[in-house]
Amino acid sequence: PRKIIIDTDPGQDDAVAILLALASPELEVLGLSVVAGNVPLHHTERNARMICELAGRPDLPVHAGCDAPMARALITAEHVHGRTGLDGISLPAPSMPLAPGHAVDFLIETLRRKAPGTVTLVPIGPLTNIATAFQRAPDIVARVQEIVLMGGAYFEVGNITPAAEFNIHVDPEAARLVFASGVPLTVMPLDVTHKALTSRAWVEEMRALGPVGRAVASWTDFYERHDREKYGSEGAPLHDPCTIAWLLRPELFSGRHINVEIETRGEFTLGMTVADWWRVSGRKPNATFIRDLDAKGFFELLRRRIGSFDGA
Ligand code: BDR
Ligand code: CA
Repeated sequence: PRKIIIDTDPGQDDAVAILLALASPELEVLGLSVVAGNVPLHHTERNARMICELAGRPDLPVHAGCDAPMARALITAEHVHGRTGLDGISLPAPSMPLAPGHAVDFLIETLRRKAPGTVTLVPIGPLTNIATAFQRAPDIVARVQEIVLMGGAYFEVGNITPAAEFNIHVDPEAARLVFASGVPLTVMPLDVTHKALTSRAWVEEMRALGPVGRAVASWTDFYERHDREKYGSEGAPLHDPCTIAWLLRPELFSGRHINVEIETRGEFTLGMTVADWWRVSGRKPNATFIRDLDAKGFFELLRRRIGSFDGA
C-alpha cells in the first residue's frame, strides 16, 4: 500500500477524508499531523483522536502541530464547522493519548526514516505544519513522493474572502513555500470540491449504515446548513475527501498541469491561488490543478468504503 500522512484540522469533511483513508487497503496511513485551522488546535487534535477511535484505530499516531500560521494570527471557521469543529453529533471523549512529539518533528523524522520517494503528504488544512517542516529540514523536501492537498480556487474564487479559499488564506506564506517547493503537487480547489455535493438520498443511505455512517450523515447535515443559508446550495461540499478519493481512483478526476502562484501581499486577494489555467504566464507548471469530478463515482466509493466500518 501507498504510505501517506494526513495533515488535518478536523473539520467534518476532514473526518470523512480520514475515515475514507482508514477504510482503504490501498493506503497505509502512517499517522495524522494536526494543525490549527477550522478551530484552534486544542479542538482539532482532540477531534482527530475521536475520529481515530470511531474508526477503531486508537493505535494510529496523532501528533499535535502548529497552533498558529507562520506569520499571522489564526483565522477560524466556527461559522461553518461549529464551536468544536466537529459539531453535528456528540462522540465519546477520546481516551487515546496524543502521540509524543510535535507534528513537525513527526513529519521530518518519518520522511528521513522511510525510503526517499515513498511517502505522500495529504494536507487538508492550512499548510503550516508542512511548510514549517520544509523550512526547518530542507533535506526532506526531495524525499516526499508527492503532495495531494485540498486548497485554493480559481473559477469558483473564494469562500473565506471573495478571492481566497480558507486553507490557503489562513496561512498564505506556508502555501507559497509549499507551492514553490518543487514537490509534485495535486491540488483539489473549490472548483472541484463544489462538485462533490452530498444529496439527501446519499446522506440517508449513510445514516442507515450503522454508527460510522450515522456520524458521517450527522456531520454533513450540520455543515450543509451553512451552505444552504449562505449559497442556497443543496448538499454539503465534501472538500477534503477529494484528496483521498484521487489517490484511490484518479480516473474520477480531471484537471491541468499548470503554474499556480500564491498571493501573499494583495490588498483584496490575500491567499488567492493564481492559477494559470490558460497558460498565459510563461511560468513553469508546478501543480496539477483539478477541476472536474465524476460525482456519482465519488459518492459510490465513499458509501462502499465507509460502509465497511459498519459491516455493510
Ligand atoms: C476547506 O476549509 C475547511 O473549512 C474544510 O475542512 C476544507 O479543508 C474548504 O475551504
Ligand atoms: Ca480541512
